[in-house]
Amino acid sequence: MTAQASPRTIRIEAMRYNPETDKEPSWKSYDVPFRDDMSVLQGLQYIKDHLDGSLTFRWSCRMAICGSCGVMINGVPSLGCHTFLRDLGPGKVRVEPLTHFPIQRDLAIDQTDFLRKLESVKPWIINQTPKKPSDGANRQTPLQIDDYYQFSECINCLLCYAACPQYGLNPEFTGPAALTLLHRYNADSRDEGTAERMAVINGENGVWGCTLVSYCSEVCPKGVDPARAINQNKINSTNDY
Ligand code: FES
Repeated sequence: MTAQASPRTIRIEAMRYNPETDKEPSWKSYDVPFRDDMSVLQGLQYIKDHLDGSLTFRWSCRMAICGSCGVMINGVPSLGCHTFLRDLGPGKVRVEPLTHFPIQRDLAIDQTDFLRKLESVKPWIINQTPKKPSDGANRQTPLQIDDYYQFSECINCLLCYAACPQYGLNPEFTGPAALTLLHRYNADSRDEGTAERMAVINGENGVWGCTLVSYCSEVCPKGVDPARAINQNKINSTNDY
């Protein structure tokens, strides 16, 4: 009879912080047994279920769709559900909340600032003469869809804000995801809202605040390429001037 291999364990070091009671954040270590198919999110869930029910973090879909599980993993903005423990060992894994955001509790950030910015870019189709259902489908050619489709893949995970040095320096900067979603609608042939959104593009905290580091595009889990959207809007802003 062969001896059963003992389960592998990995040390997850999670940042803990309760702004109501703690002076400053601290680290707490947990030894987590894991299999090859376990994500960092599953590691955090193991901690919550078996080791420490007070650990706070966000998640919902577990499949890189909802955008709620964004955290810093070993210093890199990442989706917890899309990063696997097998790729991170044998050393410890450090998990902390996304950089540049206030901490609500442990690994959960306060997203209020982003939601305000998202609303400011009017991320919906603006059309003064919308078609009635009786007019039939609002058709687009494949080329017209290509103009915006990549940018519509954004899941608002905010990894790009944690990657953006400009947002770190100037919290008023509209930032990668909001500017990308602005472009998603401006580039849509059904939309007529470009003039309304131009003030955001051209403004003090619009596209010209971006210094094109492009780390936002590198960490984006959906291949949205916010740096490309911002660059296209630098051209639009120049033409508008
Ligand atoms: Fe939804 Fe990770 S849990 S993106």
